[in-house]
Amino acid sequence: MDLLSAQGLGMSFGGLLANHDISFEIIPGEMVGLIGPNGAGKSTLFNCLAGLYKPTAGRILFQGKDVTGFKPYEMARLGMARTFQVYVATGDLNILENVMVGSFLRTRSKAKARSKAESLLEKMDLRDMAKERVANLPVAAQKRVVMATALATDPILLLLDEVAAGLNPKEIDDMIGLVRWVHADLHVTVILIEHVMELVMKLSHRVLVLDSGQLIAEGEPSDIVLQPGVIKAYLGERYGTQSFSRNSQGA
Ligand SMILES: Nc1ncnc2c1ncn2[C@@H]1O[C@H](COP(=O)(O)OP(=O)(O)O)[C@@H](O)[C@H]1O
Ligand SMILES: [Mg+2]
Repeated sequence: MDLLSAQGLGMSFGGLLANHDISFEIIPGEMVGLIGPNGAGKSTLFNCLAGLYKPTAGRILFQGKDVTGFKPYEMARLGMARTFQVYVATGDLNILENVMVGSFLRTRSKAKARSKAESLLEKMDLRDMAKERVANLPVAAQKRVVMATALATDPILLLLDEVAAGLNPKEIDDMIGLVRWVHADLHVTVILIEHVMELVMKLSHRVLVLDSGQLIAEGEPSDIVLQPGVIKAYLGERYGTQSFSRNSQGA
């Protein structure tokens, strides 16, 4: 059975169709990249899937269940977690407390929430900073806090929104390792929005391409990069850039 199925999803803001007639399936264990130009509707799609927006058309099935219009906490409880492109500060909480907010989805015990959060912080090299405010951290560490908080909810499906944006090449490599660990060791299915093509190409089994709210292509990374429509809509502007040219040697 598909883990996730989007069926003719649409999201309109006033007259603007940010998502239009989007259909795709995600099978358990997949790692899927979601790419497309700025404003294509990628974050909107995540918001619809995770329950932040109620789609104005279509249906969402999660593990076979119709979850269209479910609230974010309901989706989280069912096992879908998302990270945000831009870190949303959670009040005055420090890093440990931030991650514990995630843990509390599955337990009422403060001790259990804390120990789960601490082991995630350990894994993510954040233990020494546990008492710091997130806003005071370098961007790479902020991205890891966001990941840790999402993982503390024990997701089945993790939606990652631009976790490599603003990172340097070494930090991008670390992030690739971290996402691989989440996928392989924690057995979490992953959909990732990313402009850093190196990360998309190295990690994705399959890539979905959005342009102007519509799904214009879907396929293996090596096929996707050769499709004229995809090059025109998105990759053209990135050809010759360091992050893209690296992919041709790697993956
Ligand atoms: N809450 C909102 N209200 C109105 N318009 C929005 C809202 N969220 C996104 N949009 C619009 O929807 C389109 C897609 O945005 P977004 O999903 O953020 O694109 P992407 O993540 O691919 O860059 C853009 O034109 C954006 O301005
Ligand atoms: Mg976005």
